[in-house]
Amino acid sequence: MAPREWTVHNPRGSRRVIVTKELPGERWLDILIAADCAVEVCESFDVLTPNEIAGRIGDSCDAAIGQLTEDWNADLFTTLAAAGGTAYSNYAVGYNNVDVAGATAAGIPVGNTPGVLTETTAEMAVALTFAVGRRVVAGDRFMRSGLYEGWLPTLFMGKRFHGRTVGIVGAGRIGAAYARMMVEGHKMNLVYFDPFPNEELEQYITDYSAFLVENGEAPVSCRRVGSIEDVLAESDVVSLHTVLDDSTVHLINAERLALMKTNAILVNTSRGPIIDETALITHCRATPEFRVALDVFEIEPAMKPGLAELENAVIVPHIASATRWTREGMATLAAANVAAILQDYPVWESDDISPFLSEKMPKAAPSIVNAADLS
Ligand code: DGY
Repeated sequence: MAPREWTVHNPRGSRRVIVTKELPGERWLDILIAADCAVEVCESFDVLTPNEIAGRIGDSCDAAIGQLTEDWNADLFTTLAAAGGTAYSNYAVGYNNVDVAGATAAGIPVGNTPGVLTETTAEMAVALTFAVGRRVVAGDRFMRSGLYEGWLPTLFMGKRFHGRTVGIVGAGRIGAAYARMMVEGHKMNLVYFDPFPNEELEQYITDYSAFLVENGEAPVSCRRVGSIEDVLAESDVVSLHTVLDDSTVHLINAERLALMKTNAILVNTSRGPIIDETALITHCRATPEFRVALDVFEIEPAMKPGLAELENAVIVPHIASATRWTREGMATLAAANVAAILQDYPVWESDDISPFLSEKMPKAAPSIVNAADLS
């Protein structure tokens, strides 16, 4: 394999940080340079292997910013620690690609980039819901193929959302934001499954419902149910917002798909392996009124055979967080994570990461997954 091209910024910096992909915006680079880092950025679009990353870390490296597509395993963290590294940040909110226990064993805190993706990812889940429910992509293809010969009463009939039931699996930041958009925007009733109640979300919907009633409209409801099965069976639309770990691989399998309404919509903007994609394809073929919209794939970037041919699927290439504001914000947070640890600043304790996006950045690491393990 040909050696990768790396661009080095601020080569005289006293600390060496490697960044495995070019990141958007400039602020992240300013933060690292202000922390006296020489910043080495890989120019390649290819996914770097652990061996390639280890090769670049070499004998002396203070920190790294990596991608969700890379396998940051225990050996890699041992290599980074042996090179003098003391910080790592994933350029993502998810960190299923990171062996956090391995990083902790090597004494390296792992940062991620929460907060800046919340609404952006939820907006994409909403967009996918409507794209597949109202047949936007199929209609677009139809128009471009020159097939439209005039308005017809039955042309491209889709699904109505108003007043129906939306279900979410995982009521954390992004799940709750999606739920609020669907409840508030489309007066849907919410059922959710999460091991922990989201009292803030429940209160928000209770208050919103009271507001609707005061204004002469029908109330909306929010119910935390006892199982994923309950969400699947009751909902017209189900959106997945759970983390990927051993317990959530193939959470949505053939048996659970069979519990869903035959005309339901399933949306996944979380992680691909949460759905058994082969079972999903079989289900979509057998249940033509069922719809699925996917931003993520089981063996990304590949799709399982048959997925691309499904008429009842909308598929996009893991772009739920892809707005400039969010992707630049992620870069800022990843750089701040690394710069703060390198300069011995503490970890920010608040959920609110917005101060890190302003010019007057706090002297702390915005988000470190395993900081507690290092104390
Ligand atoms: C993340 O940050 O985990 C997202 O999947 C990126 O879009």
